[in-house]
Amino acid sequence: MINLVLFGPPGAGKGTQAAFLSNEYQLIHLSTGDILREEIAADTKIGQIAKDIICRGELVPDTMVINLIKEQMDKNPTANGFLFDGFPRTVPQAEALDALLVHYGRSVSAMLSLEVEKEELVNRLMNRGTTSGRSDDSNRSVIENRIEVYNEKTAPLIQYYQSTGKYEAVNGIGSIEDITGRLKRCIERVP
Ligand code: C5P
Ligand code: MG
Repeated sequence: MINLVLFGPPGAGKGTQAAFLSNEYQLIHLSTGDILREEIAADTKIGQIAKDIICRGELVPDTMVINLIKEQMDKNPTANGFLFDGFPRTVPQAEALDALLVHYGRSVSAMLSLEVEKEELVNRLMNRGTTSGRSDDSNRSVIENRIEVYNEKTAPLIQYYQSTGKYEAVNGIGSIEDITGRLKRCIERVP
């Protein structure tokens, strides 16, 4: 049983790689960004709250995303494992994830951190904005804010996972297949 956190700034390639890895290792792919966008599309109460926050590139309150993750984990009690993509985004979210996994008798196996420098991230997101239909991908100042929010609130998780020996840095530059290969080599080393 394996539970992976796929980590990295916006535009690092988490969603792209999560699709390959969840298939390869038969893991349930949980993307909080995708879940929130579904809530927005369905115009639920959560979606209504999340919409403006996402448009500005800010973070949705911890309790809200933690509850969404818990709901998905509860729905999949016999899962082989989970691949968390875009979650946790803050230290309290990481602590809540640890507590949830303990409840299921599990733990985070590894945190795989895709490393890509800022200029490349902005280029990728601006490019993605032409096809993704995501308002938060098309606006340079929102993209820059998302990267700032990442640096301020999400990057401290590197230390959080380093302290338990779960952190693995992976070069996020190169072809999609090369990066998948690097991630797979890390996963195969997971005890
Ligand atoms: O992960 P992704 O980039 O798809 O997330 C899109 C947006 O959803 C983020 O920029 C943020 O506004 C919101 N989000 C959040 N908290 C999370 C995951 C996503 O606020 N844990
Ligand atoms: Mg994503």
